[in-house]
Amino acid sequence: MLVNAKEMLDKAYENGYAIGHFNTNNLEWTKAILEAAEEKQTAVIIAASEGANKYMGGYKVVADLVRDLHDSLDITVPVAIHLDHGTYEGAKACIEAGYTSVMFDGSSLPLEENLEKTKEIVELAHAKGISVEAEVGGIGGSEDGVTSAGELADVEECKQLANLGIDFLAAGIGNIHGVYPDDWQGLSFDRLEEISDAVNMPIVLHGGTGIPEDQIKKAISSGVSKINVNTECQLAFAKATREYVEAGKDKEGKGFDPRKLLAPGTEAIKETIFEKIEMFGCERSAN
Ligand code: 13P
Repeated sequence: MLVNAKEMLDKAYENGYAIGHFNTNNLEWTKAILEAAEEKQTAVIIAASEGANKYMGGYKVVADLVRDLHDSLDITVPVAIHLDHGTYEGAKACIEAGYTSVMFDGSSLPLEENLEKTKEIVELAHAKGISVEAEVGGIGGSEDGVTSAGELADVEECKQLANLGIDFLAAGIGNIHGVYPDDWQGLSFDRLEEISDAVNMPIVLHGGTGIPEDQIKKAISSGVSKINVNTECQLAFAKATREYVEAGKDKEGKGFDPRKLLAPGTEAIKETIFEKIEMFGCERSAN
């Protein structure tokens, strides 16, 4: 059975480690995440953005894929299927489609509207035992080659959002999605500590790709209990697949068979997840 993400994150928050949130794109990705988590005996959050849901055929397809693979692979560790950066409509659709956790990202809306809609999503989700992540402040990222700087969330706004009964909070602390530019200033631990003191709940660190280990560990000790990783798995998959093709392996025997062609990339995703699990300190936390 899939679970929501509340209990696993509360446990991580109390015990000083973080749970990995890994975005999925297809069957291979989903299997890699499930198998890596089972091997390392940690709870895990499998996430899909609205774009990834559309790519895979819809919210129910994704929820069912994760649920069915979880069951048929005999996964014993806690697993949540989570909507990443959901719109109001997307979050409502996932609540109906069998997701066990949703993020409503109202960070680009005026604060009042973000608060109002978050409150509504919390009520709908909690009525079905689904956990809720909400965001304030906005998290920068790379789009069309332009990288925006990481924002710092306003502490008062974080408090207002946290008071709505959400289960975990995403707040900008200088983090950005995608590969960090060379002149990145690093995470703002002053702001993280202020937010953490104000909200007393698990904090979500988006943009987990490429954050150095010392900053990850410091963030965890200041209340970060969920770390989102997407780009790093994509880069690892692309690199391993490229190496396979460049070595001409797809032209040897039945090397073109997708079960062979996609195997090195899938293994590379698993290796990336192993590294993150070690860094986040969650190995064997499911026992
Ligand atoms: P990265 O792609 O930078 O790892 O960020 C992932 C993320 O925050 C998904 O919400």
